Amino acid sequence: MAEPATPAAWIDLERYPVHDLTDPRTRALIARCRAELDSQAFAVLHDFLTPGAVARFWQEAMALHDRTARREVVRSAYLDTPDQEDTSFPEGHPRRQFFRTWWGVVADDLIPDDHWLRQLYQWDGLTAFVAEALQVRPLYRHADRFQALNINVLNPGDEQAWHFDDMDFVVLLYLTTPEGGGDLECASLVRSDDDPNYDGVACAFEGTYERLHRRSARAGTLTIMRGHHSVHRVLPVEGSVPRLTAVLAYDRIPDKRERDDLNIQMYGERVRAKVATGFNRG
Ligand SMILES: [Fe+2]
Repeated sequence: MAEPATPAAWIDLERYPVHDLTDPRTRALIARCRAELDSQAFAVLHDFLTPGAVARFWQEAMALHDRTARREVVRSAYLDTPDQEDTSFPEGHPRRQFFRTWWGVVADDLIPDDHWLRQLYQWDGLTAFVAEALQVRPLYRHADRFQALNINVLNPGDEQAWHFDDMDFVVLLYLTTPEGGGDLECASLVRSDDDPNYDGVACAFEGTYERLHRRSARAGTLTIMRGHHSVHRVLPVEGSVPRLTAVLAYDRIPDKRERDDLNIQMYGERVRAKVATGFNRG
């Protein structure tokens, strides 16, 4: 079978005609994404990939599984570590609750150019659609050679604890379907720039927040997310299939790169030698 000429062929264009932003069906899709982002902080496009593409993306991602850099972190939902604990808040306050997260990540530089995931990420058609959905224009793909495109790896038993994202927005593409668990739980828009709403965050931790949404992970689903105001977590993965999620990073400014020391901390010692050669400089 001849391989498709463009990543658009891997998308269910009948349902999601993202390659043509002027198509009335695409305008309706963009309006739906914006409404979901405004009301629940994430927009979900189920079965975004065709079944054939799902199989290919799944297989390619599994082939990278042994390149995962594993980390264990203990931190608050605000990404503070225990040594940064702010004791001016009362005990038990969300600012003083720390959670353990086990997780792994495959860095951008380990994802080959011929992988369909890489080609989809680098396709301008997807960037243009995401920019429309997020209403961020212009929007650039992240330029960091380690961070731009990642695969998040949650092995059976792993979970991602409650946290607010540092970045404004992110795009997730589910690459595998775990046998059980691995749901994303999100307390939608629990805080704002003006109001930290700690009572609401405490309710989210207890499971009583009124706008607590839960979505299961299914291969081929695309999720556009604004996680900066919505505390969220991933529940423990069950069964034998790891939960692999592509994280597609974008930014408002071009040529965005991170500090070398942060990349070494994030992706491990192998990165130290690479950055010393100027690998990640423009
Ligand atoms: Fe997150």
